[in-house]
Amino acid sequence: MNKTGFVGFGNMGGTMLKALLKAGAMPQDQVIVFNRTPEKLKSFSEEYPMVNIAASINDLATKCERIFICTATDEVKPVLAALMPGLPENAHVISIAGTIEMRCLESVFDGKITRIMPTMISEVGEGVTLVCHNNKVQAADREFVNDAFSKIGKVKEILEDRFDLAADLTSCSPAFYAAILHNLVEIAVQYGYFGESEIKELVLSTCYGTTKLLTETGTDFTGLISRVATKGGISEEGVRVLNDRLPATFDELLAVTMDKHRESKQMIREQFGVE
Ligand SMILES: NC(=O)c1ccc[n+]([C@@H]2O[C@H](COP(=O)([O-])OP(=O)(O)OC[C@H]3O[C@@H](n4cnc5c(N)ncnc54)[C@H](OP(=O)(O)O)[C@@H]3O)[C@@H](O)[C@H]2O)c1
Repeated sequence: MNKTGFVGFGNMGGTMLKALLKAGAMPQDQVIVFNRTPEKLKSFSEEYPMVNIAASINDLATKCERIFICTATDEVKPVLAALMPGLPENAHVISIAGTIEMRCLESVFDGKITRIMPTMISEVGEGVTLVCHNNKVQAADREFVNDAFSKIGKVKEILEDRFDLAADLTSCSPAFYAAILHNLVEIAVQYGYFGESEIKELVLSTCYGTTKLLTETGTDFTGLISRVATKGGISEEGVRVLNDRLPATFDELLAVTMDKHRESKQMIREQFGVE
């Protein structure tokens, strides 16, 4: 009892759990993990020998006061159903599934539920974890979530109807930024002056510094642009191309992701039998 359980040790669940342990957000011996393929926990167990590995979902359920469900989205309903018989009365279930709405989770589990939207960049202690609680979650549960995730980045509590857009900006965006930078690197390589790794270093260092400067000095976007892109200069030409093309690109990007959210949520509602 009183332990924190994690079901699912994949890309996100594994990254999140290791980041939380590394940051000291919870003691190793207070954590229990269960993964469908136990072999995938081998090197993790060697690194964190005090973490308990559960023999089954029921074994984990009976020992935990709070449980993170980190499986692929279509496995959440069966996992929640399998947890139910063993869960203590006051259990707190935390789902990291982007497209499973609170009312779907509540249709299976009538207790304390939190939805969080983690981000891969918590691996380096950065980024924002989005959080939304149902009305059964108590102050101490909120505090636990806020305290733990503020050790691996920022925490932002939001209304559930804002989750999709916010998730695009926090959880999906590391992939978007990586794709943007990758495109820039690939095009720059074609000039033949530098190898890919040299260009990558130039691009990453400049991008990191730009973000740092914007964050740490409070300079706004237009302020920085006007400092770099002086009138009639070279940078100004580049900024003009971006300002011409990017609004349509980002408009399309958010239109397709928001459509995908809608489509996925509908499929999940059908899986849970919720209108
Ligand atoms: N990837 C991201 O950046 C990200 C960001 C925010 C939220 N999310 C959400 O995180 C969730 C997981 O995504 P992911 O990218 O981590 O997927 P993933 O890499 O496929 O990981 C899923 C994990 O769940 C395990 N699993 C599946 N069914 C299980 C069961 N019945 N019992 C125990 N373990 C089970 C899998 O075990 P096996 O080892 O047997 O396959 C695997 O380790 C999704 O709902 C996704 O929406 C992901």
